[in-house]
Amino acid sequence: MNEDLKIPNHVGIILDGNGRWAKMRGKPRTYGHTKGFTNLKKLAKHVFDRGVNVLSVYAFSTENFKRSKEEVDFLMNLFVDKFHELEKISNKNDIKIVFSGIKDKPLPDDVIKVIKDIEEKTKNNKPFVFNICVNYGGNYEIVDATKKIAKEVLDNKLSINDINVDLFSKYLYNDLPPVDFLIRTSGEQRVSNFMLYQIAYSEFYFPDTYFPEFDEK
Ligand code: FPP
Repeated sequence: MNEDLKIPNHVGIILDGNGRWAKMRGKPRTYGHTKGFTNLKKLAKHVFDRGVNVLSVYAFSTENFKRSKEEVDFLMNLFVDKFHELEKISNKNDIKIVFSGIKDKPLPDDVIKVIKDIEEKTKNNKPFVFNICVNYGGNYEIVDATKKIAKEVLDNKLSINDINVDLFSKYLYNDLPPVDFLIRTSGEQRVSNFMLYQIAYSEFYFPDTYFPEFDEK
């Protein structure tokens, strides 16, 4: 292990390749998602153990609703189930869980409920932050922040001259530091609308490995 390695403060991961990993084994895509979640738990522990303070993952994009009904339903049920599991782990390990994305339809009511519940139950945990992007799109996040700012200007709560890069970031879904290191597994070299405002200065890493096999090494 290189002891001089500079540990990033905020790591982002675009979880990609669950479906292809399962297909290679002659299994349904859903099997890959279950394995992806098991891997995410291991990987998150490693990331926080190494001194990273904030971990953001892309679990479900606004575009992902275009997948088959069967896969979307499977993932929504998996989220309800696994987010509860994450809450328990986070409370034991000083991790605050936050969610980024549109907490509204087409997300099912039980997913919206579990998201709000977990944010409330982990809100005082420090120092680590686990940001899970669900029903998320980076361009929507920027548009939503702009709307909130415009409303405050119209209500005379904010002056146009107050708007700057730092203030703008406080109106995003969560007030997080910039992403220093962005990983996308599976060999795809695209950012696919992930945290567009926060990755302005990120270093990118695109390993060929499918997500269920992307380990600490
Ligand atoms: C990426 O592989 C998988 C997703 C975008 C689905 C959701 C992620 C998980 C189930 C793991 C994390 C879980 C939680 C609860 C945070 P893909 O389906 O895009 O794979 P492909 O590109 O090979 O089709």
